[in-house]
Amino acid sequence: MNSMEKHEQPTLSTRKASEADIAVLIDIEKSVQKTRIYSPMVTEHAWKKELAENIVEILKLGDTPVGSIAYEEKSPDHIYISGIIVRTEYQGRGIATNAIKGVLAKYPDAERIDLVTHPDNPALKLYEGLGFTVEERKENYWGDGEPRLVLAKVKENPTP
Ligand SMILES: CC(C)(COP(=O)(O)OP(=O)(O)OC[C@H]1O[C@@H](n2cnc3c(N)ncnc32)[C@H](O)[C@@H]1OP(=O)(O)O)[C@@H](O)C(=O)NCCC(=O)NCCS
Repeated sequence: MNSMEKHEQPTLSTRKASEADIAVLIDIEKSVQKTRIYSPMVTEHAWKKELAENIVEILKLGDTPVGSIAYEEKSPDHIYISGIIVRTEYQGRGIATNAIKGVLAKYPDAERIDLVTHPDNPALKLYEGLGFTVEERKENYWGDGEPRLVLAKVKENPTP
């Protein structure tokens, strides 16, 4: 390896996940501690449902799976981002930002892209930085006694 290669940063890529990846997806979730803000999804049953209902992508840095993003095409005009997670040790490097930008780029004509997050989740800044705005607050949204915010990025000039 020459010195150029030694300093090269591995590139971020995504790969569509299947049921064969459930162990990897659970391993990523287990790297993040359960808090009142976020409950890691650690059961095979939950991931089978997620994979059946949503598009799930593994976020890879080089060959290493470092996170996942999941989203649903609710309609051709409406995309719902159901989950995003980055392994604790890889957080703060812009990986989630890039993953969400990837979804935004995939659906440039979507009239609405939305998601739900806890009001205390630092990810709120990430979403707002990408143009999502808070639409409403719902108490006990997932039945865990905690509030959630609905955020949406709405196309500015939808065709009449
Ligand atoms: C939310 C999460 C996916 C962000 O991943 P990430 O790759 O670290 O995010 P980025 O590096 O792209 O961060 C972008 C911005 O978001 C904010 N941010 C995200 N996570 C943050 C954290 N834990 N603490 C402080 N700020 C944070 C910062 O403003 C950051 O910008 P900066 O680095 O310029 O300060 C990651 O923290 C995570 O997996 N959390 C646990 C799971 C979770 O809560 N998922 C979201 C559910 S809605």
